[in-house]
Amino acid sequence: MGMTTAASETAGRERALRRLQARIRRCEQCVLAAGRTQAVPGVGPALARVMFVGEAPGRWEDERGEPFVGTAGRFFDTLLASIGLGRGEVYITNAVKCRPFVGPPPGRNRAPRPAEIAACRGWLEEELAVVAPEIVVPMGRVAVECFLPGRKISKVHGAPHRQDGRVILPLYHPALGRYGPAARETLLRDFQVLGSMLRTKRPAPR
Ligand code: URA
Repeated sequence: MGMTTAASETAGRERALRRLQARIRRCEQCVLAAGRTQAVPGVGPALARVMFVGEAPGRWEDERGEPFVGTAGRFFDTLLASIGLGRGEVYITNAVKCRPFVGPPPGRNRAPRPAEIAACRGWLEEELAVVAPEIVVPMGRVAVECFLPGRKISKVHGAPHRQDGRVILPLYHPALGRYGPAARETLLRDFQVLGSMLRTKRPAPR
């Protein structure tokens, strides 16, 4: 029996995403390629309604090849769970796909430089094009700047913005959670905005 149109479209998008992730793993477009263990493309289903965008892989992500698996990742899982989401239901990626660090390996994580963010921008655009999420959630200053250039995260966090037929919901970075209960409360509160958007918005027909 042949696949339905919807099923074959899903299969096609999954294939396109696998091909894209494979190209990202081979990328050598900036200096970060030289120091990495591996590139870290996004993970998640091609038909995810929500795409989270972090800053860049850290040490543990570089080692495991998956985004948000370190300390910030554990709090990120808590935030997802607080609105009833599991990792497998959302797409999770970073503005920069390779780990920026200083010092002799393993070195210390550092923020990505503008040239590195610019070099990686095309990969993020391709992920957005394939997954076509209803809602994009940039987390932290670097990712927020990619979607809402010039806007201060302290002013826009938790406020949904319409852009190119999508909703952008800028949030603080989950690593902020290490600064204590007030920061964690702010993140949990901002996540509720996403939770209620997912409950009230109908999934777009695909
Ligand atoms: N911080 C990020 O921004 N991304 C990761 O993948 C891990 C930590």
